[in-house]
Amino acid sequence: MSETRILMFDSGVGGISVFKDIKARLPWVSCTYAFDNEAYPYGELEPKELIQRVESYVSHFVKTQNIALVVIACNTASTIVLSKLREKITIPIVGVVPAIKPASQRSSLGVGLIATPATVTREYTHELIRHFAHDKDVVMLGTTKLVDMAEQKLRGVPVDLESLDRVLRPLKGSVDVAVLGCTHFPLLRDEICQVLGTEVLLIDSGDAISRRVEFLLQERFLSDSKNKASYEVFCSTEPFDRSALQLSFTQLGFSEIRIQPLKDA
Ligand code: DGL
Repeated sequence: MSETRILMFDSGVGGISVFKDIKARLPWVSCTYAFDNEAYPYGELEPKELIQRVESYVSHFVKTQNIALVVIACNTASTIVLSKLREKITIPIVGVVPAIKPASQRSSLGVGLIATPATVTREYTHELIRHFAHDKDVVMLGTTKLVDMAEQKLRGVPVDLESLDRVLRPLKGSVDVAVLGCTHFPLLRDEICQVLGTEVLLIDSGDAISRRVEFLLQERFLSDSKNKASYEVFCSTEPFDRSALQLSFTQLGFSEIRIQPLKDA
């Protein structure tokens, strides 16, 4: 029986937070995890360049591997590339966008959106807020510092709680729900919880994404569900502190990190 393989894409290790949810729900699904570390951080990249890079990198893997579905495991990319990508690639594409709706439903004091500097400026994000949280106070916090902290944590560096506290301070006392609107941030969930306190509910999109992937795959690939999954990882340039990063990927069951340079971006 042939395997069912999905492609997961991010600028760095953030998509791992979504991978964990998908692996837990769909242990029979194989995964190619591709990250464009050459252009990291995406939260500070020009939209035009971001769109070109994502299109080019994702297309490469869809052409060369037997991919059933793509997950753009990056809010910064999803809020801008999804429609263009769907014009180009015909297999299902699942995007990750900030979970404003469930957050708004659970909040009475106010909603915090912690995301990248780009995501908090996106029209897509503002539309989500107008649509689902128009009756709530929304505090938006765009930060690359937290993205870097998550990258470091996956390389074994402990998170500095004092710096985290400084970044998150604008949310303290004004929100009771915080949206982790960047896939890197669920990797810092414990530390964010320590800083904001357990009275602030933290919401991310990982579980909803895994349910969407299950729904789309089971429509087509139910018969593959007895397969043993395999996990491969590629990035666009030599990763910073490779050996420490490899350890994290190995613990999750991934192969050796391989370099696939991005062409035609
Ligand atoms: N993990 C990404 C996101 O969900 C992007 C982080 C970055 O490269 O700035 O937005």
